[in-house]
Amino acid sequence: MIKEKPFRKEAPTETVRLQKFIADCGLASRRRAEVMITEGRVAVNGIPATRQGIKIDPARDRVTVDGRPVKPQSAPRLTIMLHKPQGYICSMDDPEGRPLVKELHREIKARLFPVGRLDYNTSGLLLCTNDGQLANRLMHPRYKLEKEYLVTVAGRFDGQALAALRAGVELEDGPARPLRAEIMEQSNQRSRIKLVIAEGRNRQVRRMLDALDFKVLYLLRSRLAFLHLKGVKRGKWRYLEPWETRRLFKMAEEGEKG
Ligand code: URA
Repeated sequence: MIKEKPFRKEAPTETVRLQKFIADCGLASRRRAEVMITEGRVAVNGIPATRQGIKIDPARDRVTVDGRPVKPQSAPRLTIMLHKPQGYICSMDDPEGRPLVKELHREIKARLFPVGRLDYNTSGLLLCTNDGQLANRLMHPRYKLEKEYLVTVAGRFDGQALAALRAGVELEDGPARPLRAEIMEQSNQRSRIKLVIAEGRNRQVRRMLDALDFKVLYLLRSRLAFLHLKGVKRGKWRYLEPWETRRLFKMAEEGEKG
């Protein structure tokens, strides 16, 4: 006699990687969540989870970061474009007590985190969001969104230097070449260059110019994909329009560049 299969007693659920869960809950980008895991700040059902790649069942497992429960995002997803001034740090806290980017949008109650980072001394366009999915997409190396920088360097940046920059330079972590580069102004004291890159390696623009023996005096990110800084004063911000967020999502999906 065929024995009837017993009914499943529990509803089937789906598992998800721990770092994705944390990001989807809007707590941090996926990469930042990985760092939190490595730092031992994350626990699953009370047990510290320091191994990457652990899968959890959001319906059953209890995840905490620094002892505080992580819950699926119920707050509305917000993304702002901020004009970061020099002298601000993109981390959520700084042991040295330097000014934090989040202080510039303190009037927003939601906990926003920066999408990628600009150096302490770099200014310009920075997106801040509580949308972990958007941050993941934008920061994933696969989706190479264009970033445009205006760089002021000491000394004359001439045609030869431009040709060398366009040809690409060898950095510690591999070759780097701008998608486009042009000289905006030139004098013996200082020169201004506009360059566009698709990657987001650590201090990439500064290291590229350093490799050509140029000292960077001022660095500003003026554009990210189709988003321009125009109209947003230094230290100020504006919300992204829903169509802008949708377009960013779409670009990341399709791997569009600019
Ligand atoms: N390249 C840099 O060198 N610094 C930044 O902040 C961004 C790009």
